[in-house]
Amino acid sequence: MKIAIIGGTGVYDSSILDEASEITVDTKYGHISLIKGTRNKNEVFFLQRHGKNHKLIPSKVNYKGNIMALKNLGVDLIISTAAVGGINHCSPLDFVILDQFIDFTKNRSASFFDEENSGVLHVDMTEPYCKNVRKQLINSFKNVDVTPIEKGTYVCTEGPRFETPAEIQMYKILGGDVVGMTNVPEVVLAREASICYATIALVTNYASGISENQLTHKEVGENMLKMSKTLKMALEDFLDTISYDYTKCSCRNSQREINSLK
Ligand code: HPA
Repeated sequence: MKIAIIGGTGVYDSSILDEASEITVDTKYGHISLIKGTRNKNEVFFLQRHGKNHKLIPSKVNYKGNIMALKNLGVDLIISTAAVGGINHCSPLDFVILDQFIDFTKNRSASFFDEENSGVLHVDMTEPYCKNVRKQLINSFKNVDVTPIEKGTYVCTEGPRFETPAEIQMYKILGGDVVGMTNVPEVVLAREASICYATIALVTNYASGISENQLTHKEVGENMLKMSKTLKMALEDFLDTISYDYTKCSCRNSQREINSLK
């Protein structure tokens, strides 16, 4: 199986891969650098969402290039990580295995099918995150003695600023559990590309106004560091135990091929 890990803020450690080397993939959206390695007979790729040295703000991440590069490499499943603020049903240092999202982005190209000659495709989002991968991720956290929160709704904002308390109250009323800036359009593009996709949301702080403290990027980084050991162990367990028939997963056949867009 070919597996990719998309590391978000604070997740830059590719040392769980054996025989790691850097490669570059050319796509019509630009050159994408990533680490290629192996683990438990699987080919594993590690991609930094924000580019090398975390250069790109959420609005400027090359989402299409990243997913197209993984598609061109023949990747079957993607696990992504996302730093989030906690709104409901969670606290800092929790791991949430997302099952839904609400899109509040404003300024992003959110589909491979919004291009000239791409044709029209309305991809199904009833189950945006792969249920097979989610199940295995939940098990992997349990295998390393951590109880993850087994579902949660991610609200995606445009950023790069944090939210106002009034916005967070609105998201809470609408059913949002966590808030971040990057999961959309990544999750959508993965489905358009027929790749199984799931996200581990790392709750690094209470969202604005949920606690009285002001939000800082420093707090996000510090809590991320505290969670990194558990995250690494859970990812190792995942790579060592993953088994499901991805060729029959519903993520793979819910839309047209995007290969013509290479
Ligand atoms: N809001 C948006 N993005 C985030 C947050 C937050 O509170 N924490 C980490 N990423």
